[in-house]
Amino acid sequence: MKIGLLGCGTVGSGVYEIISNGKNKKFLKDLEVVKILVKDQSEVTMDIMTTNPADVLENDEIDLIVEVMGGINPAFKFISKALSSGKHVVTANKAVVAKHLKDFNKLAEENNAILLYEASVGGGIPIIKSLKQAMRIDDVTKLDGILNGTTNFILYNMYENNYEFDNILRLAQSKGYAEADPSADIDGIDIKNKINILSSIAYESIVPLEDIYSFGIRNISKHDIDYFKKQNLTLKMLANSVKEDGKYCASVQPVLYTQSELTGSVTSNFNIAGLAGETIGDLKFYGQGAGKFPTANAVVQDIIDVATGSHASYPSDFNKSIEFDGTLLTGKY
Ligand code: HSE
Repeated sequence: MKIGLLGCGTVGSGVYEIISNGKNKKFLKDLEVVKILVKDQSEVTMDIMTTNPADVLENDEIDLIVEVMGGINPAFKFISKALSSGKHVVTANKAVVAKHLKDFNKLAEENNAILLYEASVGGGIPIIKSLKQAMRIDDVTKLDGILNGTTNFILYNMYENNYEFDNILRLAQSKGYAEADPSADIDGIDIKNKINILSSIAYESIVPLEDIYSFGIRNISKHDIDYFKKQNLTLKMLANSVKEDGKYCASVQPVLYTQSELTGSVTSNFNIAGLAGETIGDLKFYGQGAGKFPTANAVVQDIIDVATGSHASYPSDFNKSIEFDGTLLTGKY
């Protein structure tokens, strides 16, 4: 399978390295990155790199486009163009998937193309695949988790290592966890996109982003964290979503836990993602929710699913109707 990469930053370079180093691996050996779009000429360091999107998007040799640029534009335009021309798309971009999943699904269906986006939620944790697997048997009625590595890294280090907010945010940026504009992390926008994507999949209905209440950690000070610590409580940025009787509610906010609780014990940039279904009960998945290789791993897993046809064994409908009910999460924290 011939692949075109849109973007070669933290995640894109990880995807390239995993594929290029996998020539002796059964599921990687037939994958080849043939073109890479980079932002400007100074980033062109290999023959296969280009600054012209058409070299990737209009390249007949390419079967699958990997979009790892982030942001809404031009990612929306590029993904739409790729799907319209029947190219499969794998993306790690939660912002564009949360906003345009309906448009992308329509284009994919009309053009016999496949769209997968495992890396958009939970970095290296295979939460979307696990959710879809659970849905083959169960009605999934609850989703929750720490789905943003940057805010967990910030809150954890303020608690454990006495960092001030601004200093630890800079460190998260330097480690490649934070979004290009870190306000997307600290104001809860990134985690809201992620719970939106999971909710749409689980409830088989594209749920409007505007329904989801979100409250960030921008105003949390070291003083607040010290006060919670004296009471043996730790603050975590949590996303929650529930469905009951054809109605749903999702929200994002900081929540206090003791460290003996599973969610309270999640350290550094790690994520925890949970789901619940009738027969499977409560499931929790723990892993690195951000960073180069965990996220790139999830992208490459999707590429393998397209290449092997395994994506077809999971449900992927969005045709049910669901109503928003803001009272469903009241008193649930
Ligand atoms: N900024 C995101 C995070 C990157 O911190 O979780 C992974 O989606």
